[in-house]
Amino acid sequence: MLASLFHLARPLIHRMDAEKAHRMTVMALASAPALKPAADDPVLTSEAFGLSFPNPVGLAAGFDKHAEAIDGALGLGFGFVEVGGVTPLPQPGNPQPRVFRLAEDAAVINRYGLNSEGMEAVARRLAARRGRGGLVGVNLGANKDSADREQDYAVLARRLAPLAYVLTVNVSSPNTPGLRNLQAESALDDLLARTLAARDEAAAGGAPTPVLLKIAPDLTLPELDGMVAVARRRGLNGMIVSNTTVARPATLRSAARTETGGLSGKPLFAASTQILAETFLRVEGQFPLIGVGGIDSAEAAFAKIRAGATLVQFYSAMVFKGPGLAKEVKLGLAAQARRAGLTRLTALVGRDAAAIARGEGL
Ligand code: FNR
Repeated sequence: MLASLFHLARPLIHRMDAEKAHRMTVMALASAPALKPAADDPVLTSEAFGLSFPNPVGLAAGFDKHAEAIDGALGLGFGFVEVGGVTPLPQPGNPQPRVFRLAEDAAVINRYGLNSEGMEAVARRLAARRGRGGLVGVNLGANKDSADREQDYAVLARRLAPLAYVLTVNVSSPNTPGLRNLQAESALDDLLARTLAARDEAAAGGAPTPVLLKIAPDLTLPELDGMVAVARRRGLNGMIVSNTTVARPATLRSAARTETGGLSGKPLFAASTQILAETFLRVEGQFPLIGVGGIDSAEAAFAKIRAGATLVQFYSAMVFKGPGLAKEVKLGLAAQARRAGLTRLTALVGRDAAAIARGEGL
């Protein structure tokens, strides 16, 4: 029903400015009565970070930046929703236009620059829906003008840990100048130490909220070595691979390919899946991974799982394929697992990581 409505409305939506169309979609999801999705096939149940996910398909950060449409998004069938990026203080982000559809490439370029209503607005909305269920994560980012960006993550963790199931340290957005320097080993070590201490403080002796690290797909392998080493040493709970890329594959055809910003969607799939596999090989099972980047089908989601993802997320493909995609991916994954004679899809996590890391098997 939703899917066919989207296909009718898509030409109209895609004639609108991309940011306006997005705001309209979020508002529609926020105000429509939340749907109650059908119960998930038990073969899709996935355990990660000490939590049990009804299915491994999540909504990636950036779609619901201000936590306005959580119940609407869960109603589309996502097993978990990551809101944000959220910054400690409100900030406007970059001037518009700052998001572009690359229709011929099934891709998006954005340079929002972490526009955020700030952590208090998000905390208020999370508190207001407490007890309504659903696994909600929050993506954390530093303020552009912060004098101490590392401290921003600690401030966010202290405030938001009690209101979220998972927190993501996002040091991989390409649109805040200098932010990705926090991926360097010594800066990252300090940042994670402070964030985890703040998170533990917020737990006040109770179970601490899992903290994940989200990385860029543009890292060199030595940089990845360093980041995984820090994450393992600091006892991080997981990693998300990957954010958008600053690369521009030669295959891009859309006029907007020259826009500055992070590229997401189909052209990101191969690179983000390869670095996911490289990450999986380095983590050696110490913590689970979330695979994101270019998922637009059950087959693509399954490739992320084979590369090492326990859970997956997507965003850009919804722009082109609409709100029915979560359901389609889940059904396809469940069928895949049943065909393989499995009782749990997670049995296949990382099965082809070595081949995919070598650039084969996708
Ligand atoms: C994003 N993404 C993102 N990631 C993040 O960690 N914090 C953020 O605030 C945002 N914001 C954002 C805005 C827009 C418009 C897009 C398209 C993306 C990145 C997103 O979560 C994901 O990692 C990438 O988009 C790759 O997945 P897809 O879109 O190819 O499925």
